[in-house]
Amino acid sequence: MAADARKPFRFTTKELSRRTFVDFERFFSQVHGCMCVLYSLGGHIPKPGRTAKEIAEQLGDPDRSKKRFPLQEWRRQQESRAMKELVWKGQAHGILVYADGEPVGWCQYGRTSELPVVGPKKAPERLFAKDPTSEWRITCFTTRMDHRRRGVATIALEAAVEAIRKRGGGWIEALPIVFGHYDPELRELRRTYGWRSEEVKEYLKSWPVKDVPGIGPVQAAELTPRTAPHFGVMSMFERLGFVPTQRNGQAGVVMRLKV
Ligand SMILES: CC(C)(COP(=O)(O)OP(=O)(O)OC[C@H]1O[C@@H](n2cnc3c(N)ncnc32)[C@H](O)[C@@H]1OP(=O)(O)O)[C@@H](O)C(=O)NCCC(=O)NCCS
Repeated sequence: MAADARKPFRFTTKELSRRTFVDFERFFSQVHGCMCVLYSLGGHIPKPGRTAKEIAEQLGDPDRSKKRFPLQEWRRQQESRAMKELVWKGQAHGILVYADGEPVGWCQYGRTSELPVVGPKKAPERLFAKDPTSEWRITCFTTRMDHRRRGVATIALEAAVEAIRKRGGGWIEALPIVFGHYDPELRELRRTYGWRSEEVKEYLKSWPVKDVPGIGPVQAAELTPRTAPHFGVMSMFERLGFVPTQRNGQAGVVMRLKV
């Protein structure tokens, strides 16, 4: 499964469809992630019980050791079922990136009316588009660990924008972080003093900041060397002509493009 670092990869893309759903399932069996159920349905699949004991009883497995606890597999099946239903109805869209035929990357996009597809429960405000005139959203990226930092998410984004263009286009909205910063010292401070301690707050005052045109200074997001958050990074969007239009939280911006 692990990629051979010496071998150059030829990346290709395909749209999520009834035909590629099997690849989508395969991809999400190899990465952490909710198959984008969060954005599609406006929330995660609820657990089948409140306590570990209740869940174990519901799922018919009395062994509650971490290795055998069946919740993760149960969740995956529920997520897959939910997404399959949406794909079959034509209500879930995304791009799969392949390295030599193996799915290694994913980007979810869709119409604002479908992200989320609002069901009987109320979806939290943070899951909706920020700008009421946005017609499309690009919500989530995931790259398999052994292919990160090779341009996979960037390729997925280009294909998503192209797919939106082919489906009639319009205003697209995305919510990337502005830039990332890896700082082991911050991790150490959090471990020692706690996440919301005065020591951490003080340290964060010297955290790197970038001046975003039309927005002002925005702080770096904390990243690890391999992993960025699922919203993506501003530079990926800038290259395609997306423009920042408003601040989004401490480290993010709303970016928009009309195609
Ligand atoms: C976000 C993510 C998809 C990026 O994928 P990727 O294929 O490594 O991204 P790319 O190689 O195309 O890089 C895109 C840009 O982000 C930057 N970037 C990516 N990872 C970075 C990191 N860890 N630190 C700093 N910058 C980073 C790259 O430098 C690049 O910017 P540039 O072109 O200006 O140099 C990947 O880190 C990931 O899968 N993260 C986990 C997301 C997740 O939790 N998904 C599940 C959601 S339920």
